[in-house]
Amino acid sequence: MIIHPVIKGQVAKSCHPVGCGQAVAEQIAYVSRAPQIAKGPRKVLVLGASSGFGLASRISLAFGGARADTIGVAFERGPSDKGVGSAGWYNLIHFSHMARKEGLIARNFVGDAFAPDMRAKVADYIRNEFGGSVDLVVYSLATGARPDPETGELVRSTIKPIGTATRGYTINLEKDFLEEQCLEPATDQEIKDTVKVMGGEDWQSWISFLKGEGLLAEGFETLAFSYIGPERTYDIYHHGTLGRAKADLHQTADRIDAALKAQKGQAHVVVCKALVTKASVFIPGLSPYLLALFRVMKEMGLHEGCIEQMQRLYADTLYRADGTIPVDAERLVRIDDREQRADVQEKVAALLDKMTPETFRSIGDYEGYKGDFMKLNGFGLESVDYEADVDLDRYRME
Ligand code: NAD
Ligand code: NA
Repeated sequence: MIIHPVIKGQVAKSCHPVGCGQAVAEQIAYVSRAPQIAKGPRKVLVLGASSGFGLASRISLAFGGARADTIGVAFERGPSDKGVGSAGWYNLIHFSHMARKEGLIARNFVGDAFAPDMRAKVADYIRNEFGGSVDLVVYSLATGARPDPETGELVRSTIKPIGTATRGYTINLEKDFLEEQCLEPATDQEIKDTVKVMGGEDWQSWISFLKGEGLLAEGFETLAFSYIGPERTYDIYHHGTLGRAKADLHQTADRIDAALKAQKGQAHVVVCKALVTKASVFIPGLSPYLLALFRVMKEMGLHEGCIEQMQRLYADTLYRADGTIPVDAERLVRIDDREQRADVQEKVAALLDKMTPETFRSIGDYEGYKGDFMKLNGFGLESVDYEADVDLDRYRME
């Protein structure tokens, strides 16, 4: 079949399997020539491994110097009579194919990471086929819903301010315009639910479970990702429902860290730069900021994507030759340092003051933003012939 992009609002309804493969190959090529990870982990579990920071972590740890064997867990759809499936499905297939060609183990588990039977399956695999333990667990899930572990009822997260209403623009990627939205403050229940879905509870329960099963190696590390951003985005993020969930994640890192002391283990939260991913395009009010940020950081030669961020994280920060991990006063690992630079934020603020639904395409880097979104779904890659027939039967999850 010939596959064309289909976008509805903020959601891609199709993806290009060949393009997804090419995007994974580009990331592999990047980490292969970047400064290498000196002494990294050999056995890694990535939760949320099919896109964004999770996929980039897996690529960096396998191909960026550590030559890690990896297990990837993700929630994705394969091809069916409903459509081609999701980009993450093809990312997993391409990654494992290329890792196995290099002689690395790359095992995928597709399904719900919140479900106890997924935990059991992964644990059995680690015990019986993966050498008996893991050195690193990367927790990179991003989702709008999670079944309550006690009741089984679906809990949904919301992205809202807390306390007072706020207005902000969201990008409509389907029709290329900015729409203004009024965001009412979250109710207490919505705050609680967002913390349940995007806070630290599930991360902690994965680690406690694996620890209880005796599957964490001595000197074990675990990380999860967070965002803080500059003050002018606090209303919608840092001081909103998502920020509340992240605060919970930060506290969880300290709890896990304490529980790992006996085996010389550590848990960290890594604060990343704002980027275009399947998850982040949903954050209302954040898009104009991203458009301005991309323009400024590209002009200053400071721009990074997921893969640049992750390779820098593992090579320069987490697995440095001297074995130390630099953290801030709150014990957070900061790789948002370039985004947060005063000179960057000054220029971003100046652009944002001029950004309106009429000017956003010339003031901000809309081309770059949309290009990244298309690329997440395998479209817009130069080396791909989009008029060529794609044989979906070639893509099998192993
Ligand atoms: P993403 O949408 O690219 O990836 C999410 C991953 O989670 C996918 O692999 C998906 O399959 C998986 N997933 C979702 N629900 C699942 C489930 N029930 N079971 C198993 N897998 C499931 O998202 P991302 O932007 O890479 O986000 C990862 C983390 O990074 C999040 O904690 C996010 O808050 C954080 N972060 C993102 C940004 C950004 O700008 N994108 C910035 C800083 C921090
Ligand atoms: Na991810």
